[in-house]
This record gives sequence, C-alpha cells and structure tokens, in this order.
Amino acid sequence: CGIIGCVGRGDETLDTLVHGLSKLEYRGYDSAGVALTSTDEPVSICKNAGDIDGLKQALESVSLSGEVGIGHTRWSTHGPPTDANAHPHQDCHGSVAVVHNGIIENYQELRDELVGAGHTFTSDTDTEVIPHLIERELEDGANPEAAVRSAVAQLDGSFAVAVVVAGTESVFAARNDSPLVLGLTEEATFLASDVPAFRDFTDQVVYLDDGEFARLDADGWTVTDTAGTVVDKEVNTVEWDPEETGKSGYDHYMLKEIHEQPRALRQCLRGRVDELSASVDIGDLGDLSPTGVQFVACGTSYHAALYGAQLFQAAGIPAQAFLASEYATGVPPIGDALVVGVTQSGETADTLSALREARSRGARTLAVTNVVGSTVARECDHALYIRAGPEIGVAASKTFASQLAALNLLALGTTSTDDTREVIAALRDLPGQVQSILDSSAAEAVAELYQDADAYFFIGRGQQFPVALEGALKMKEITYKHAEGFAAGELKHGPLALVTEKTPVFAVVTGDDERARKTVGNIKEVEARDAPVVAVTDGQNDAARYADEVLELPETHPRAAAVLANIHLQLVSYHTAALLGRPIDKPRNLAKSVTVE
Ligand code: G6P
Repeated sequence: CGIIGCVGRGDETLDTLVHGLSKLEYRGYDSAGVALTSTDEPVSICKNAGDIDGLKQALESVSLSGEVGIGHTRWSTHGPPTDANAHPHQDCHGSVAVVHNGIIENYQELRDELVGAGHTFTSDTDTEVIPHLIERELEDGANPEAAVRSAVAQLDGSFAVAVVVAGTESVFAARNDSPLVLGLTEEATFLASDVPAFRDFTDQVVYLDDGEFARLDADGWTVTDTAGTVVDKEVNTVEWDPEETGKSGYDHYMLKEIHEQPRALRQCLRGRVDELSASVDIGDLGDLSPTGVQFVACGTSYHAALYGAQLFQAAGIPAQAFLASEYATGVPPIGDALVVGVTQSGETADTLSALREARSRGARTLAVTNVVGSTVARECDHALYIRAGPEIGVAASKTFASQLAALNLLALGTTSTDDTREVIAALRDLPGQVQSILDSSAAEAVAELYQDADAYFFIGRGQQFPVALEGALKMKEITYKHAEGFAAGELKHGPLALVTEKTPVFAVVTGDDERARKTVGNIKEVEARDAPVVAVTDGQNDAARYADEVLELPETHPRAAAVLANIHLQLVSYHTAALLGRPIDKPRNLAKSVTVE
C-alpha cells in the first residue's frame, strides 16, 4: 500500500495528493482514496475500489475542501478491494480519517472491544479500528496529538499510519515496520511511503525510524519518539531526478526500464572496478571476508540470490539462497556466516523478517538494495547499493540485471578467484552487449509466434538456472499465462509430461562445456516430443541446431551471459503481454513492494 500526506499546499492540496498517489501506484492499486480537512472544515473523504484513474473520476462528482490531507492506494490484505474497504477509514462521527499500510495483528480483539462499547464498523479491514480508537481517546478528553499517540500505542503489528482530525491543521503519522518519509520545502511538508510521491516538489527528505511519530503543521514538522521526546533527524538529499520516474515516450514503464539497463549497469559498476589492477572496490565491504554466506530474498530478488550463492560457491565459500519467507522455518545454522538480504525495494516484509531472525542469532547482515534510506539499508550492518535508479513497473527488470552485477562485485570484492580478470572484463563489456541485444533481439517475433501457447517452459543449468526461473516468473507476472522454470536436468523427472506442441520451451545454454552439452541433450528430449524450442545461446554449442528459433547471445563469461540471456526473456514476456493487451505495469493482484508477511 502507499500513503501520502501534505500540509502547506493550499488550494493545490487535493491535486498534490492525487499526483502523489499516482506515483505510488506501484505499491498497490486495488483501491484508492483521499481525505481533506482544515481548522474550519469537517473531514471530507472520497474513496473507491479501483485505481487512481477511478479515484480521479469519482472526485469529479464530489467537492472536497481543506488544506491538509492524506491519501492512500491499497494492496488488499484484510477484505476484498471494495469501496467500503478502501482507505481512508473513519470513526463513527466522521471527524477522524486514517490511512494505513501494514497489518494490525490485534485488530480482532480491539474491534470486539470497540463494538462492545457501541462503535459501528463499516468495513472488513483491520485499519478501521484505528479511527475508532482515536475517537474514543478524543471523547475521553485527549487533544488530537495525544489521541493519535495513545491509539497507536495500542496497536500490535507492522504499520505506517497517517491521520487527520477535523478542526486541526496537522497530519499525524507513526511508523512501526512500514516505511514513511517526510519531504520538506519552505512552504509545505509532505509525508509518504516512498520519495517518488513528492519528488516533483523537493529532494530534501527525512526518513522516519520505527517507533517514531511525526507531526506536520503549516509552520513545519517535528519527529518525536514513543516517549514524546523530540528526535534530531538528519535531512538527506535525494540524488535521482524526477524525470527518471516518467515514461519518457515508452508505452510502459517496464519497457523503459528494460531499455535503461545499459545505463543502470554502468551506474552499478562506475568507480567500483579497476581493470588494470583487476580489482574491485566496494568500500569497507571488502573487509567482510565471509567464511559462509546465506542469502535471503523473495521473487525476482530470490533468483538473483540463487545466482549470488553460485558465485560464492565458485570461490570455495559455502553459500545458500533461502526464500525469505521460509528462512525462519528451516533455522539453518549461522555460525559466523554473513547473511545477505537481496531486495530491490528494501522494504519487503518477508526479507526484513528473515534478516531480523538472522541478526537475533548473531549474524552479520548485508543489504543488497536499490533504495538508499530503505528499511533494509538502515537495519543491516552493511549496505551495497545496486544503483539502478527508480523502478516503477511492478515486474522487476533493470533491477535484476543490476542485482546480478552488484553480486558479482560483492563476490569479487570479498573472495579471491582465478578468473577475476576475465569476470571484470566481462562486466565491463556488459552495458554495450545489453545495448546490442536491445537493438537487435528477435524477441518480438518469437512473442508473436507463440502468443497462443498453452504454457511456456524455461530451462537452464548452473548460472543459467536462475535465469530460467526468472524468465518464467516474468512471463507469468505480466502475461497471466502458465509458465515454469526448471533446472534443465530436472525436466525429464516429471515436467516433461506437460510438454506438447503447444508449450514452447526456452532453453538458455551458453559455452561448450559438459554442462552445455547436457542441456543440449535436454533440448533433444523436448524436440522429440514436438515442443517448439527457442534456444537462447551464444552459438558455442549445438543448441541452435535443434531449435525452432534462436535468440542470439555474444560470447562472454557465463556469469555475464546470464544477464544477457535475461534481456531476451524480458523482451519476450513484454511483447507477449503487449500482444495479449495486458496491463503490463500493473499486473492484477500484484504489488511492487509487499510490506506484509
Ligand atoms: C513483490 C514484487 C516482485 C518482487 C518481490 C521482491 O512480490 O511483485 O516483483 O520481486 O516483491 O521485492 P524486493 O523489493 O524485495 O526485491
């Protein structure tokens, strides 16, 4: 979910909130709403199921006034995406409005208590207890700030909340486990789940920490701790440009972000590799010298983590990748392992929770993330930034490439291997090679050919196995078609039963070693069952000979080939989704940043 709030924008308040929500839509788009108030206005709200465009339409037929406001775009956790479940939520008298991100674990207990005391609820959400708790405090004589503080103190769980109260000119906010950041200008103060919401107005930001409470007023802002003591917060300057969050003429953010990969990779590598001395400089991270590494991650980042684990294994360091949501269940031994959380957003609840578990067991932790100031970056002992720039499309694209590059830097910078020079040379060539694939890939033609397929399978071995998994994830996320990725050798142990002439198999196979030859053997097994084969290959092996279509790769180190192969697969998924008319940047049921477990 995404939260926005602002004070000091005068007549522009409503437009500012709606604009901010449109920048936060990647966090969820099941429903949206806004609430406005001022000293002489009651709280007025407008909300409905559907995305921000739906909210804009709804706003045409109502008149909201006020110079202080909050807004929300929702990714459903409690209750379906209906008008009633959309935020903001209100108390019985409509004098309080609340937007919330996260989960209130003790909501049922609080709700039962409030219902027992005569409060009437109108939604299925956990959020609705908050305005009722505030209402009860106000009725007991508390001032608005004290009422909000005391309501928040009664909540268990992870949350970020923003509140307006009729008759006040303030936005109140509290953070516990869900991100909140303030944006500062001379005239106005903003509050949001993420910087893009207000980046068009300011680059001066203050990140809230867990347990902190913020109050935004016409004449400024204060941040206090749970005891009410003012916290001296650091003001940070955001380095990226607001232009970077526009579509720049592309039909979709995802296509723009796919095309940004050469630049993203250059940014990731800049100043960190020295070809002459064959060395990598990742600052003080180089002193980590891990004796074992555990990766924790979700979704696309998990595929990057699988790839990262292989890099350390190749350097003789025991390494494993865990799905973050399963990490605590397995309770793997830690010893003095370094635990690395790979997360684009730095806010994924499952990943944060796995890292907290690791820390509680005494592990050193490292965040590999795209977002400076994100929760993961602030909670981990160390952070390595992938520097991909903002990614808006829900399906990750450029951040995967940058994660792979950053993980190479991490492995090279903390271990020693024989092929450091070759890997550095391959990394140096990557941006240019990615550009040539973008310029000449046959992916669109392949997408056209197979757009009616029943399902898509992806196979790869070694470093190309995570690429096969990622190819399938991208395909299912944005086309809604069935897609699966398999270790090439595993296909014959079951999945081969699914293979028909209506199930194209994408085989990623590079080089001409024993592994490549085995994958070519697997391609023959598929071909013998009449399935179309698309080989993603560098021509070093026989894959093309048994393939119906070929997506060509230049010759390079297998580590770099993984990044390049993925570019073709991103494009195939993108063009298939475009042909099928899917909402590519906002696939149904998904959110870019999932801040609940
Ligand atoms: C969500 C997104 C996925 C993403 C995953 C992990 O589920 O829809 O695309 O890979 O979160 O996100 P992170 O920000 O931790 O990399």
